[in-house]
Amino acid sequence: MDAKRSSTAATIADRLLAWYDVHARALPWRYQPGIAADPYRVWLSEVMLQQTTVAAVAPRFTAWVARWPDVASLAAADESAVMAAWAGLGYYARARNLVKAARAVVADHDGVFPSSEAALATLPGLGAYTAAAVAAMAFGERAVVVDANVERVVARLFAIAAPLPAARPAIRAATDSITPALRAGDFAQAMMDLGSGLCTTRKPRCLLCPIAEDCRGRAAGDPERLPVKRAKLPKPQRHGTIFWLENDNRILLVTRPAKGLLGGMRALPTGPWADTPPGIDGAPAAADWRMLDAHVSHGFTHFDLELRLAVAQAAGHETAAIEGEWWPVDDLAAAGLPTVFAKAADAMRRDR
Ligand code: ADE
Repeated sequence: MDAKRSSTAATIADRLLAWYDVHARALPWRYQPGIAADPYRVWLSEVMLQQTTVAAVAPRFTAWVARWPDVASLAAADESAVMAAWAGLGYYARARNLVKAARAVVADHDGVFPSSEAALATLPGLGAYTAAAVAAMAFGERAVVVDANVERVVARLFAIAAPLPAARPAIRAATDSITPALRAGDFAQAMMDLGSGLCTTRKPRCLLCPIAEDCRGRAAGDPERLPVKRAKLPKPQRHGTIFWLENDNRILLVTRPAKGLLGGMRALPTGPWADTPPGIDGAPAAADWRMLDAHVSHGFTHFDLELRLAVAQAAGHETAAIEGEWWPVDDLAAAGLPTVFAKAADAMRRDR
């Protein structure tokens, strides 16, 4: 790096950190200045914030740390209780990996999070992003932290015009070139706050931006067009059936197989996914199934799913032979159902 570039780099970080000292969002996982960050809280929040918005995460984070305040309590938790507590946050493998990683911290690291990016990356479910974020935010290591907000800020700052995802290595290198040796965790969070508050996808508010004068995207006249994204392919549409089997004000719930969509979650029984509505294929019991007009739509990463609802009564003497849990219908909120099944339960209340 030449001298001019490195002096520019120092001023970008300095300006951003000075802005952050005044404008940082108060978020429940953030530490107070002068108080050492708790790696458990940083790790948990970073995992929750992957794929889930800050607004959705904040109350869930607070409830979670009230229930499991540290890594030892999470390691000792019942996995099914953890899965249920994750309900509605999506991408459920994250919850299973939280338990695995907490147990690994207790079993292999005497209950203390390792402090280096490399050692953190050996824990189950801690990918490159999470390891870098925890190393920087909890331990002050100089690690390069790139999430979608940082990606947008940096693509604009350096006018990186290659489309995503091909632009990622260049964006990472550019982020590396401006990451300071000290306060790398604050720097990362400052970039995130800048990205979510000012350097927004649409209508960035450049007049308020502390690094606007460094921004090549702005100098080029149209920062909003960066980063360039590849056109989204339409998602395939798949179909399925949700089975609502009742007995005496109780509903049959099952636990989904550990691998696959919504793996390990408590759920309403479903049949196979198919290209056309599969009817009562894969019903959990032989019964007088009635198909409702109501259906439930839900978008997953790789496909959209449209689910019909089939309803039946199970005779009391049959229930013992059917695999699953008979859950009080009035207490379904406590079952920790993923959003798609919570939608189905709402549709049942509304439309049957
Ligand atoms: N998104 C991911 N991590 C974040 C953090 N620490 N603060 C705000 N937004 C985030």
